[in-house]
Amino acid sequence: MTGSLRKPLVAGNWKMNGTSASLDEARKIAEGAQDFADVVDVMVCPPATLIARLDLRCAGTDLLLGGQDCHAEPAGAHTGDVSADMLVDAGASAVILGHSERRIDHKESSQSVADKVAAAHRVGLTAIVCVGETEIERKSGQANNVVGEQVRLSLPSTTTGQNVVIAYEPVWAIGTGMTPTTTDISEMHGVIRAMLADRFGEAAAAAMRILYGGSVKPANAAQLLRIDNVDGALVGGASLKAQDFLAILGIYGTRSVETVSVGA
Ligand code: PGA
Repeated sequence: MTGSLRKPLVAGNWKMNGTSASLDEARKIAEGAQDFADVVDVMVCPPATLIARLDLRCAGTDLLLGGQDCHAEPAGAHTGDVSADMLVDAGASAVILGHSERRIDHKESSQSVADKVAAAHRVGLTAIVCVGETEIERKSGQANNVVGEQVRLSLPSTTTGQNVVIAYEPVWAIGTGMTPTTTDISEMHGVIRAMLADRFGEAAAAAMRILYGGSVKPANAAQLLRIDNVDGALVGGASLKAQDFLAILGIYGTRSVETVSVGA
């Protein structure tokens, strides 16, 4: 079965890129994405400094906005941090949590990610929870265990099929141009969905979107995003240019025609 219950989501992760000079690019994305609004949800996650301005600049379109992190506490003495409530106030409806760059740069554990997901849920944000193995873990046959453990520990009991999106992003595929095989992606997404079913029940697991992320670009989008069980993408580098990002969305123009059956 391919996503009949699940509307795909393609989210652009701008990471630490973007100033007011990027607002026109965002508007181009928002306008171009309108052509696909019926078949795919489209989101941009800019730096926190830009969310409110993108919200204004993209008014009247269906573009969704997300943050890239939030603190687990609702407010207080946490210099430099942003709360989930502040993201909502700025115009976000979602937040990326547990991205591997934060797990590495800021030593975020899966437990701290779960606390942030719970904070996001308290204010009605959808949490896009990132998981993924390193190259060493993949080569030593540990990928399924590592990702399974991240999924288990990073999701709080407030999780439902609607308020969490999982993004499977192998660390070694991010920004490198390398991607897993379609078989490996399909297998991992299957493992994740089975874990979700175990913990949250079949209905929640069937409703939850599992994105693939890591070097998604126009040239490989059709191959990667039509795999069974892949419900969209988290896109880094290729989301910074409207032309590239819209070309990725373009694959959904023909989504209903065929899906790739892995192993067929
Ligand atoms: P990339 O980044 O598309 O540039 O590989 C993906 C991500 O880190 O979310």
